[in-house]
Amino acid sequence: MTRLVRALPLLVPLLMPLQAKAADAVAGEKVFRKCAACHTVDVGGKNKIGPALSGVIGRTAGTADGYRYSRAMKAADFAWTAEALDSYLTSPKTFVPGNKMPFPGLKKADDRADVIAYIQSKMP
Ligand code: HEC
Repeated sequence: MTRLVRALPLLVPLLMPLQAKAADAVAGEKVFRKCAACHTVDVGGKNKIGPALSGVIGRTAGTADGYRYSRAMKAADFAWTAEALDSYLTSPKTFVPGNKMPFPGLKKADDRADVIAYIQSKMP
């Protein structure tokens, strides 16, 4: 018994990866199907109903070439980071009030992390 207790701290790091799921770009490709009706993400992709998302991380909100944004998104004064995307995708209406993305958001944190990893994997 004491041996087992002593061994526990050694076992914990081994078991951790089973619990905390890392963001997964491959799973994110599936999640992105929900976005693909309105967005491209491939390098050089065109604007559709929504702006092209290739290169969106690090880009100032509302600035994809040739896309007609809502006033709210044009006025948004920040650059997209993984954190900002996570907040936006949790609740698009709350994060940028008045923006015109007709999408309710992704409820599951894992889905958001995966789709962000996928978008990140498509950076030019
Ligand atoms: C039904 C269409 C639709 C769907 C589905 C959709 N979007 Fe959008 N998205 C838009 C529109 C329209 C805008 C432009 C918003 C504006 O101008 O206010 C937008 C804007 C964005 C922006 C801001 C881009 C920029 O250049 O500032 C991001 C990021 C984004 N969407 C990500 C996503 C992701 C990721 C998904 C899937 C989880 C998704 N969207 C699903 C239509 C959609």
